[in-house]
Amino acid sequence: MTLQQKSLKLQLESIDPQKAGVHPLLIQRSSQANFASTELERGQIIQLLQAARCAPSSHNSQPWYFIVVTNGAGREEINQNLAESGVGWAAQAPVLLAVVFNSSEGSRQNGLNYGLFDCGLAAQNILLQATSMNLAAHPVNYFDPQTMRRVLKLPRKHILVLFVAVGQPGQQSVSTESNPLRKPLATIAAWDRWDGSLVEE
Ligand SMILES: Cc1cc2nc3c(=O)[nH]c(=O)nc-3n(C[C@H](O)[C@H](O)[C@H](O)COP(=O)(O)O)c2cc1C
Repeated sequence: MTLQQKSLKLQLESIDPQKAGVHPLLIQRSSQANFASTELERGQIIQLLQAARCAPSSHNSQPWYFIVVTNGAGREEINQNLAESGVGWAAQAPVLLAVVFNSSEGSRQNGLNYGLFDCGLAAQNILLQATSMNLAAHPVNYFDPQTMRRVLKLPRKHILVLFVAVGQPGQQSVSTESNPLRKPLATIAAWDRWDGSLVEE
């Protein structure tokens, strides 16, 4: 490793997101698993959906579909499945926003289908919008896909990627992660080329 690379590495290690100018909304967002039972207003849900559709997508393919799950038919079975999957707290959320990937619309590039990636960007928009509205939000992918497909009546080429559980925050702010630490920047980024000295493939 050259001296220049060494100093760049040290620079990366010393960066604290708060001091590095990362937007406060990104620092404020965390996966919150305690929801008040208060229902969300329709306008708030629409705001979350509007945020989702602002997301970028490869070739602007927008290969997503969102299903707003509140108290309608099927919610009980969804709740039961979430509880059986170890995420019973998600059943308490007044709203589950299902992010669905339409696999016939995903854009193919570089040998990859970018559709799931696009759906992830839409999900992040929902999470950040929820954070900006002081709502608690949590991505959830612990569930039985076959059960959810049946209950949500998804067509064959549509795939449930995740739910975003959203609601007013409960009394205590509860994060599901006891240690949501991030990998040090120096182990996940490099200048100019892959820094093989840090990770062995
Ligand atoms: C696509 C996706 C699915 C997730 N599904 C679950 C889940 O089913 N259960 C869970 O406890 N956390 C789930 N998480 C939350 C992650 O564990 C969490 O984002 C990570 O630990 C970082 O914590 P933070 O979101 O508070 O920053 C999911 C996150 C993502 C992005």
